Amino acid sequence: MEIKGKKIFITGGAGFVGSHTADKLLEMDCSVTVYDNLKTGQSDIFLKDAKTNKDFKMVEGDILDLDKLKSEMDGHDFVFHLSANADVRGGLDNTRIDLEQNTIGTWNVLEAMKINNVKGIAFSSTSAMYGEPDKFPTPENYNPTQTSLYGASKLAGEAMIQAFCEGFGIKSWIFRFVSLIGERYTHGVIFDFIKKLHSDPKELEILGDGEQKKSYLYIGDCVNAMVFAIQNADEKVNTFNLGNVEYMNVKDVANIIIEEMKLSDVKFKFTGGEKGWIGDAPFVQLAVDRIQSLGWKPEVSIEDGIRKTAQYLLQNKELLDRR
Ligand SMILES: NC(=O)c1ccc[n+]([C@@H]2O[C@H](COP(=O)([O-])OP(=O)(O)OC[C@H]3O[C@@H](n4cnc5c(N)ncnc54)[C@H](O)[C@@H]3O)[C@@H](O)[C@H]2O)c1
Repeated sequence: MEIKGKKIFITGGAGFVGSHTADKLLEMDCSVTVYDNLKTGQSDIFLKDAKTNKDFKMVEGDILDLDKLKSEMDGHDFVFHLSANADVRGGLDNTRIDLEQNTIGTWNVLEAMKINNVKGIAFSSTSAMYGEPDKFPTPENYNPTQTSLYGASKLAGEAMIQAFCEGFGIKSWIFRFVSLIGERYTHGVIFDFIKKLHSDPKELEILGDGEQKKSYLYIGDCVNAMVFAIQNADEKVNTFNLGNVEYMNVKDVANIIIEEMKLSDVKFKFTGGEKGWIGDAPFVQLAVDRIQSLGWKPEVSIEDGIRKTAQYLLQNKELLDRR
């Protein structure tokens, strides 16, 4: 589907992924409405440039407010649905939050699209929906068992999207991201390690045994992949893993961060076990042949992406205090 020059509605557009998506779409001469409740979004910093563009509009609103969502979506051609409760670990403390924010929230977005006759949606799903797979790299057609409420809520969101596509002539692009890194990153292992090292530069607590292996993807590569897939794949439902085929273990991530912070003699303290928390996957490596066969490939290596992320956070220390 061609989205160049179109009117695009981005839920969660003040967040890490959403604000980069907004910048990219503005570069493509789209007009962009960000719809965000600013729960974790940082519109003052992340949308500073976007706000100077005449084709940009920011609406403070919640996707759970269906009336407002419907009226604000009026007149748009395409939706990037990127808002979510993106805290994977919190699901066991509050078992409603993923259901409400990620599953019912996605249903609300689809209802608003139906009413407003919007015919295309991109959705941010996750590698967490694969649970703990036994096939690596894990392909899109793997039949997963859920290990987190977050993963389950995203899989339910995907299913809801598929059903709306069938029922209402909508087309969808569902993206299952590995951990994303880069400028404006505000949650995840690099964020946690830098915070911990700021409070104690001599000892770093690492959840699990430090051997967990994860794939990461640089945010610029992620946003380019989403736009590329929307413009080059045209099924009713287009589902893509987005990641690097490479991966890195958590101890190596920690060592890169320590180097970037110019620290030495940091002692690691492992909490033990092969997982960091219940629902954590000890190994994440997604098969990316499907997106690569269209002609996309990542440009930033995992190591460079981690260095860029650490440098960004060290230069924008106020973000470390905001979350
Ligand atoms: N960052 C990653 O590594 C990663 C990996 C896999 C999937 N994802 C998914 O990508 C999407 C974006 O994640 P992110 O890293 O940018 O997170 P983020 O927290 O930076 O962004 C989420 C945005 O959604 C907004 N939001 C939350 N609840 C809302 C609501 N009810 N109504 C309106 N706005 C709301 C927040 O204020 C924030 O701006 C999420 O759907 C997340 O689940 C992210």
